[in-house]
Amino acid sequence: MSTNSSGASTSYARLERVHDRRIVALTAYDYPTARLIDEAGVDLVLVGDSLGMVFAGLPDTTGVTLAHMIYHTEVVARGIEQAFLVSDLPYGTYDSPEMAVENGRRLIDAGAQAVKLEGGLSQVAKLIALRAAGIPTVGHIGMLPQRVREEGGYKKKGKTSPEADRLVESAIALEESGVGAIVLESIVPEVADRITEAIDIPTIGIGSGPNCDGEIRVLHDVIGAYPWFVPPFAKPEADVAGEIRRAVAAFRDEVHGGAGFQPADR
Ligand code: KIV
Repeated sequence: MSTNSSGASTSYARLERVHDRRIVALTAYDYPTARLIDEAGVDLVLVGDSLGMVFAGLPDTTGVTLAHMIYHTEVVARGIEQAFLVSDLPYGTYDSPEMAVENGRRLIDAGAQAVKLEGGLSQVAKLIALRAAGIPTVGHIGMLPQRVREEGGYKKKGKTSPEADRLVESAIALEESGVGAIVLESIVPEVADRITEAIDIPTIGIGSGPNCDGEIRVLHDVIGAYPWFVPPFAKPEADVAGEIRRAVAAFRDEVHGGAGFQPADR
């Protein structure tokens, strides 16, 4: 437990403990993945609403519901022993401070240690309400996937000077509202550096250059498990999709050939 600048208690022990090195953060949506990445020493596990796309096959995250997030949070929480577990408040579930508190509490009850919500200055009242309710929060600024339809695509943020200034201002306001960390998504590196300099809480980057306090990725992008869309900043470390295809083809050929089901196998 620690006390932030506004005097409210928060429990970000895991994030603070690693403040002397970069924070490693990954998404998980199911028990075995959560357990594997927790055992591998990941600092922060996010039950991201990206599950709408890479788990459920939706075109974007706006179709994800609170019920989906509660279910996946419960499932992932069972696999976590040491990492800090964060869950996304999905689209349309934090339109007012009251909604944010009510729905945030349901994610905490499902096993999350903090909830993440997207947006900057417009979210300050909700973050303050969440803090007053004792619900730890993580911010998310820059490219906001929940607004992809309004924005007409995934676009880099901070390219103009007014937009860059607003991002820095938002990060400071989020820190003052009690968030424990801020995800910086698709922000030009110089602006991500300015934000990281301007605030004391960790910045966790995704497509925002090399100097954030940590990095977060959708696990599928790291292990090559979702070959149909690979974001430009993804650097697959494995080819799980290829392995699945290879193993399934081997099994198919065994079955077609009549092998693998002989009594001698058992
Ligand atoms: O939903 C998600 O997975 C996220 C990360 C991409 C940061 O918000």
